[in-house]
This record gives sequence, C-alpha cells and structure tokens, in this order.
Amino acid sequence: MSDGATERRALAGRLVQDGALTAPVWRAAVESVPRELFLNPGVFLYEGGRWRPVTALGSDPAEWVRVAYTPDTLTTQLDGYLTADQVGEPVAGLPTSSSTTPALVVSMIESLDVQDGHQVLEIGTGTGYSAALMCHRLGEDNVTTVEVDPEVAARADAALEAAGFSTWTVTGDGLLGHPHRAPYDRVIATCAVRRIPYAWVRQTKPGGVILATVGSWANGAGLAKVTVNEDGTAEGRIIGRASFMQARSQAAAPVAGDLSARTAYADSERQTKVSPLMLDEWMPAFLAQVAAPGGQFVRATTNEGTQVLYLFDPERESFAEFTPDGDGWRVRQGGPVTIWDDIEEAITAWQGAGSPDITAVQLRITDRCHTYWIGDELALRWQHRLTDRP
Ligand SMILES: C[S@@+](CC[C@H](N)C(=O)[O-])C[C@H]1O[C@@H](n2cnc3c(N)ncnc32)[C@H](O)[C@@H]1O
Repeated sequence: MSDGATERRALAGRLVQDGALTAPVWRAAVESVPRELFLNPGVFLYEGGRWRPVTALGSDPAEWVRVAYTPDTLTTQLDGYLTADQVGEPVAGLPTSSSTTPALVVSMIESLDVQDGHQVLEIGTGTGYSAALMCHRLGEDNVTTVEVDPEVAARADAALEAAGFSTWTVTGDGLLGHPHRAPYDRVIATCAVRRIPYAWVRQTKPGGVILATVGSWANGAGLAKVTVNEDGTAEGRIIGRASFMQARSQAAAPVAGDLSARTAYADSERQTKVSPLMLDEWMPAFLAQVAAPGGQFVRATTNEGTQVLYLFDPERESFAEFTPDGDGWRVRQGGPVTIWDDIEEAITAWQGAGSPDITAVQLRITDRCHTYWIGDELALRWQHRLTDRP
C-alpha cells in the first residue's frame, strides 16, 4: 500500500512545473504533509451536477490516496453540516468547507513572504492542510488558525495532531482575528471577505502583511496584499485574481422571491452605455463590487423566455433592472443608490484608462475608511466610509 510519499513528490513536482511552488522550504512542506490525513471522513466529488461522496473508509486505499493528491479543490462539507460519511448517494448542495486546490494554497503562502520565526494567523482552517504546511515551515507554536464551524475545527485539530502538529486551532469568527495571540507578522485568509476587517490590521505588527481575497461574487474577487504601517493604517494592492468561499458571517442571503415586487418603483429609466453582460467578466465584476458594495447580480428569465438582469442592494433598498432593447439594454433604477450609474461610471473610466489589469488596483485601509484606486484619476477612486466622522 502507498504511504503517499510518491504521490506527494508528484504533486510537488506538478506545482513546481506550473509555477505555483518555487521555494525549496515550501516544496519540502508539500512533500512531507500527507493531504489524505486532512480529508477525513471523506470528500465530495462534483460529477454530473451532483456531489458524489467518497470516504476514506469506504474506498480502496490506493484510490483514496489518488483522490487526495488530485490537484483540485476537494469539498469536505456541504450546506454547513453534511459530510461524505452521512450519505450513500450523490447529493445536491453548496460547498461550505474544503481543502483548497494545493496550487492556490502554496502560491498564496509563498506570496505571504514568510520568514523564520514569524507568527502567522490563518482565517478559515477548513481541513487544516494549509495550516499544516505552515506548521511544517514555521513550527507549530508560530501558527494560529481560526475556523468558524466547530465541527470543521474539531476535525482539523484532530488531523493536525495526527500529522504531528499541536498548533492553535481556534473555533470562532475569524473576522475578529484572534487578539489573544496577537500581534502577528502575517495574516492569511482562505475564505473571501467583503472587506478586510480592521481587527486584522490592528492585530498585525507594523511591517506585517495581510493577504486576503476581497469580493463577494463568485467571479470578480481580488487577492489583496497589504502591509501594515506604523500609524495603524495598511496599504497595498490587488496582486491577482482569487476565488474562495465567502466568510460565513458575510455571505449574503441570495435574492429570491417576487423580483417584480422589488423592482415595482423605478425613479429613472434609460439606455445603458455599456452592456450589463460585462459583469460576467472578472475585472468589470471586481469594479462593480468596489463601486457598489453590497450589490448582487441576478439573472432571470421571464415566462416569455426573455433574459432579464438585475442588480440588487437589499440593505439600501435599491435596484437596477436590465432588459434587452434592440442591440443594447435599457435600465430602470430605483432606491436611494443608483447602483448602475456608479458601476457604469467605474467601468467606462476603467475602459478610458485602457482597461488595466486587476493588479493595477491599489488599496488603503484605515479604521474608518477603505480606499481603492487605479492611477491618479478621480473617477477611478472609490471610498467605503465606515463612519461619517472625519
Ligand atoms: C476554503 S476553506 C479553507 C481551506 C483550508 N485553508 C484548507 O486548505 O484546507 C474555507 C473555510 O473557511 C471557513 N470560514 C468561513 N467563514 C469563516 C469565518 N468567519 N471565520 C473563520 N473561518 C471561516 C469555512 O468554514 C471553511 O472551512
């Protein structure tokens, strides 16, 4: 029976080949940490629109090791409770915990610029696999990991112990960080956040780095890397695209029900300047979330088969409704926030600047305000104020 060593070496080799893994210390971690230990009791594989449960106990050992070292994200929990040992047949559901694809995990932890002796805080323990890689590199006392789901946290803690790491696995809302072990040199989030909580900035040493995916849509999130300044602010930029499940306390309830009731009272109607279908593209979707935080993009089809698109901001009772009109689209907007005006302005300013890549976006965080900007243009600068106080 394979002890997984060959598969681990092969995984590390593939990650090196793909450019996700470059540093020998991280290669040693990938070659040493048994991913299969972190997948108990099992995983769900997405096949034909459903999730097929595969458990360690119910699988041939060689097959289980093969599954564990696939380069994919392996879903370990659906709908906030269901694990693979609880069902015998493929099921429907939404992933709520997983072992992220090793390529993303290692490229993210390499981007953290971890040095010997660093104290790292991870938000979103999940299976514990990424925490184990960091324990291998830094030592178990230097890694604190926070998981919001108590059962997920307990399984991760057991797996970390089994792999030989008695690290600090904390059950709690990672948006609060973990003040008891602060300050940290590095903070890494493996769930997406709508904005980087100021608690993380407060718990990071000056010169320390925070790496987190910002965004709440399935596409259009950016991997933010900010450095904390002496004055308690943090500054940095978006270093690339990233896709993670949303932090649980921030996941917005999907807009459902009678959409016509939500769009009954429009304050304005006009032709759009750009197609709302642009929101299917990564950078326009990212800009939409920056320009109109809280907005949700919804697609629907009328009984007559016409496609209708919507943007809703449920908190601010605002909407934009798009209907096809010849070659273009008409938009009706209602509520105190003209969501589409704001998004359209951001997209046209971005196009005017030559449609720069997401890595052109800079970010500054204070305790009162988050500012995103591209270049010097005022139209490419967005502020999210958390207070009206100056
Ligand atoms: C993609 S998984 C983490 C992957 C993990 N680092 C690994 O490699 O196995 C995201 C995890 O974040 C957790 N999570 C979601 N919201 C959270 C929050 N507010 N605080 C802490 N953890 C959270 C989820 O329960 C889930 O287990």
